[in-house]
Amino acid sequence: MARAKIALIGAGQIGGTLAHLVGLKELGDVVLFDIAEGIPQGKALDIAESSPVDGFDAALSGAQDYSEIAGADVCIVTAGVARKPGMSRDDLLGINLKVMKSVGEGIKAHAPDAFVICITNPLDAMVWALREFSGLPHEKVVGMAGVLDSARFRYFLAEEFDVSVKDVTAFVLGGHGDTMVPLTRYSTVAGIPLPDLVQMGWTTQDKLDAIVQRTRDGGAEIVGLLKTGSAFYAPAASAVQMAESYLKDQKRVLPAAAFVDGKYGLDGMYVGVPTVIGKDGIERIVEISMNDDENAMFQNSVNAVKGLVEACKGIDETLA
Ligand code: APR
Repeated sequence: MARAKIALIGAGQIGGTLAHLVGLKELGDVVLFDIAEGIPQGKALDIAESSPVDGFDAALSGAQDYSEIAGADVCIVTAGVARKPGMSRDDLLGINLKVMKSVGEGIKAHAPDAFVICITNPLDAMVWALREFSGLPHEKVVGMAGVLDSARFRYFLAEEFDVSVKDVTAFVLGGHGDTMVPLTRYSTVAGIPLPDLVQMGWTTQDKLDAIVQRTRDGGAEIVGLLKTGSAFYAPAASAVQMAESYLKDQKRVLPAAAFVDGKYGLDGMYVGVPTVIGKDGIERIVEISMNDDENAMFQNSVNAVKGLVEACKGIDETLA
């Protein structure tokens, strides 16, 4: 059987890391696309030259022309600009919206059957715009945020409890921004919900609240340390997990920015919810019950995303 073809639109920090991980995991052949000449070719060649050492078979190439992504099974989009210290994800809106237009048109023309994973920020608005510009089915265009946000939450919890990250599950809903909703009730250590762990004396409510806030600020913490850009290792790993679930029809239950129409009382918008990802893309959206507090936080997040989508419509009238 032919190898899968994975197009990485944007060959910056995340794009290069994605290419390396896709190679190491032998998920398929890689085309790195970028407007910057030489960068995608250079990264592709460098990673290809590591393949004899690590022992993986994958063809890697760089491209400046969208015709090179023809027939891609998966497209992962990181094209655009990343945050610098002092910037919020929302500050990237105007620039990255224009980038989504060209990327969406490129995918529409050359890879209309692909499963598309958007990483470019501000995530929930950009994945919506990318879907509009590409015209692909909603279930084939999704945003990567929840896997990353919950990975950060899981890591901080594992540190606090001094247990393996493998035994910590965590649940994060809503938009990928300051309003994201880490749900402690649905987050566990080996099946024991966090509120029970507070009662068992494993941690205190104050410490748990601080971890929730650190999760919300997780992206900004990295930006503050790096100073020259934003996180790339964990975002790349998260998107690769989603791509793998699609390519291998694993049907993993993963939080993602998906198009929600009818569930959660929403009327057709992208926001972070639990999903099932398999060969058909987003195969299911899992609707969980929320208490009043959780629902209020979720609505706050939904409203923030709606505000960004309205801002996009104000910038590009073809989206209105
Ligand atoms: N088409 C293709 N590539 C583009 C375009 C475009 N129109 N505009 C910019 N790029 C490329 C840049 O040349 C650069 O190589 O996108 C790449 C972005 O890479 P980085 O600046 O290193 O950013 P990265 O850290 O990879 O993050 C990318 O993901 O998490 C989000 O907020 C982050 O929006 C940012 C995106």
